[in-house]
Amino acid sequence: MCGMIFTVAIDGPAAAGKGTIGRALAERFGFAHLDTGLLYRAVGVKGGDPVAAAEALSEADLMRADLRSLEAGEAASRVAVIPGVRAALLAFQRSFARREGGAVLDGRDIGTVICPAAEVKLFVTASPEVRAQRRWLELGGEAAAQSYEAVLEGVKARDARDMGRADAPLKPAADAVLIDTSAMSAEAALDAAGTQVRAALARA
Ligand code: DC
Repeated sequence: MCGMIFTVAIDGPAAAGKGTIGRALAERFGFAHLDTGLLYRAVGVKGGDPVAAAEALSEADLMRADLRSLEAGEAASRVAVIPGVRAALLAFQRSFARREGGAVLDGRDIGTVICPAAEVKLFVTASPEVRAQRRWLELGGEAAAQSYEAVLEGVKARDARDMGRADAPLKPAADAVLIDTSAMSAEAALDAAGTQVRAALARA
């Protein structure tokens, strides 16, 4: 498989499990993995002009410890509506996707805009309530600074912004395989994703 070009595109709303599935698939099949949300998070927290920040984005920006916070996710979602920001991040994502040895990218527009010819397209989703519950538990549950209701409001607001924007809105590609993880264990979701990758590799 040396030198193989093979792209797995994973899209879906916040906290649906795409990152976990993407990382695990990359490990299982020996592919590189890019969490594209990190690019938008890094632009969101950088401050200043978002388009200039996206154009000048560096490795160091992607290493910041605060990129995983709820605030960074909010800031990312706000700068992600700006077409100039999306355009500035496009070439990097495309070249990552076509690197030799295979790549998994997760985000919102990978199967629709960044890699419309990806060998595998998955749309990983779950109900807003299940996603909010998972996020709230990750934040510490009862010990979290935010209530479950506040996290749920945040999840719904982010969905509305990600799905409602004019440029590259979150939606499944016509040929994406839908994986609804609402009632699935992490293992079952990963198995479902792995089955799709194996089938596509057999066709490649
Ligand atoms: O996946 P995440 O929660 O890290 O993404 C943060 C925000 O970045 C998300 O609300 C919308 C934006 N985003 C995007 O517009 N396109 C992507 N491919 C990835 C993320």
